[in-house]
Amino acid sequence: MPAVRLRRLREKRAIRDWVSETQLNPKSIILPYFVVEGKKIKEPIESMPCVYRLSIDNLLKDITEAVEIQAILLFGIPMHKDSLGFGAYKKNGIVQKAIRAIRKQRKDLIVITDVCLCGYASHGHCGIIKKRPEFAVDNDKTLEVLAKIALSHAEAGADFVAPSAMMDGQVRAIREVLDKKDFEEVGIMGYSAKYASNFYGPFRDALHSAPQFGDRKSYQMDYRNSDKALREIKQDIEEGVDIVMVKPALGYLDIIYRIKQKFNIPIAAYNVSGEYSMVKKYAQSREIEKDMVLEILTGIKRAGADFIITYWAKDLMKWLK
Ligand code: PBG
Repeated sequence: MPAVRLRRLREKRAIRDWVSETQLNPKSIILPYFVVEGKKIKEPIESMPCVYRLSIDNLLKDITEAVEIQAILLFGIPMHKDSLGFGAYKKNGIVQKAIRAIRKQRKDLIVITDVCLCGYASHGHCGIIKKRPEFAVDNDKTLEVLAKIALSHAEAGADFVAPSAMMDGQVRAIREVLDKKDFEEVGIMGYSAKYASNFYGPFRDALHSAPQFGDRKSYQMDYRNSDKALREIKQDIEEGVDIVMVKPALGYLDIIYRIKQKFNIPIAAYNVSGEYSMVKKYAQSREIEKDMVLEILTGIKRAGADFIITYWAKDLMKWLK
């Protein structure tokens, strides 16, 4: 028997590149943006080095420079928050204005918007609070508001809306209103398997959206579960979702893999703020950072993600050249 030499395919770089099974595709990378009211604002976020809150003028500048970016995910930070999150669906809300401005500038860009209340409601929860019998997020009242937010984003020109509140029936509620108002071309990227994670901290600093009481465990998923993620995905598919999302990504590669095996639907993975900052703060040089990020993002792709939402999107475009 001749010796089996698996190392032959790792012998030199050209061969390694030639036989590599997984490639990161710039087209499948989604860049998140935090947009604020005002002008000429580029505000650093302490817990997320190199990520900023941008006013619309600076956002446009950034987008114009980032020509390779195909898709963005927009988060708004309103000037005022109230208990009902009114700023989330105002015609002249921050996200609505940002979408219209982007539309004038880059027609080809795929604009995805986060649909949730936590960034707009003073209590920091993802939905409407009911006080009786005890403090809780009211599922069905929240659906009405999510539908209003999604519609206002569609009217402003969003390509996809991304409900992230983890309310039951959120995809159906949004699909119904979009169809009724003639926005059947606007798609839904559902945060379908979104876990109650300890890795969202820096993001909540960015949005000032940490819950003011309690936590999100009664609506976001329990990280001990994976069968339930499949049920969430199945439910969203039945309700008409176009792309499903798993979030966070790194501790959840098995979830991505299981969904990939079981369903034929595009999967987006969200490499979240805590995962970003952890590496960002550890990597002492750009070279190490680049190598670590390529390894991590390729791992997410290898697990089965079709799209990756990452704060490294712009760096990645350079690194992949
Ligand atoms: C809003 C939302 C969150 C993130 C995306 N959309 C935070 C949360 O649920 O508290 C987190 C993204 C990140 O950490 O990068 N519901």
